[in-house]
Amino acid sequence: MSVIVAPSLLSANFGHLDRDLEMINRSSADWLHLDIMDGVFVPNISFGFPVLKYVAELCTKPLDVHLMIVSPDKFIDRFAEMGVMSLNVHYEACTHLHRTIYEIRKRGMKTAVTLNPATPVSVLEDIIDDIDMVLLMTVNPGFGGQKFIEHSIGKVGRLREMISRRGLNTLIEVDGGVDFETGRRLVDAGVDVLVSGNTVFASENPEETIRRLKSL
Ligand code: DX5
Ligand code: ZN
Repeated sequence: MSVIVAPSLLSANFGHLDRDLEMINRSSADWLHLDIMDGVFVPNISFGFPVLKYVAELCTKPLDVHLMIVSPDKFIDRFAEMGVMSLNVHYEACTHLHRTIYEIRKRGMKTAVTLNPATPVSVLEDIIDDIDMVLLMTVNPGFGGQKFIEHSIGKVGRLREMISRRGLNTLIEVDGGVDFETGRRLVDAGVDVLVSGNTVFASENPEETIRRLKSL
């Protein structure tokens, strides 16, 4: 099975969002990745519900939402109402992670836990059986176009080993600094889903770039 590719809208041109969404709809992208930042959990603010509502109406691909906010529990209902497919919450932002995960699942969304670069995969030991996906940050969250953090490759390997040891089918998604070179090595290390912002949207031919990422 080829790798799942989720372009990150953060790198799109927000002055021409309809044009970029039409490109995504035409492309071989599997999902659309949406980064919600609150300026507190991360040092940046992205976009919120009014933009998401517009995106949800126009985009034909499943929506993969990455919450970089404190207290994500407050907004689970709103994301479910918008038809979001998967909701990624940061381990570092959830005091009662098990409860948060069950609230997400109860509303019919796929559950995903996100880890910052400095958070080891060992913290997932007691939650991995309950989730559909792990999102490993391969840059510090907050901005597109950053440099890939090299130790992420070993981290993917350790997570792949944990998932196989338990006979699970939890997906591994990576986010940050994914290009053809890092993407190839991540796929070799056992990644199922590549998020890519800058590599897709800054390229001359984004549709072709998505096709190439899918063939890694
Ligand atoms: C960063 C975001 C990413 C970002 C990735 O905090 O979570 O989804 O858009 O951008 P690139 O692929 O440009 O590193
Ligand atoms: Zn993201």
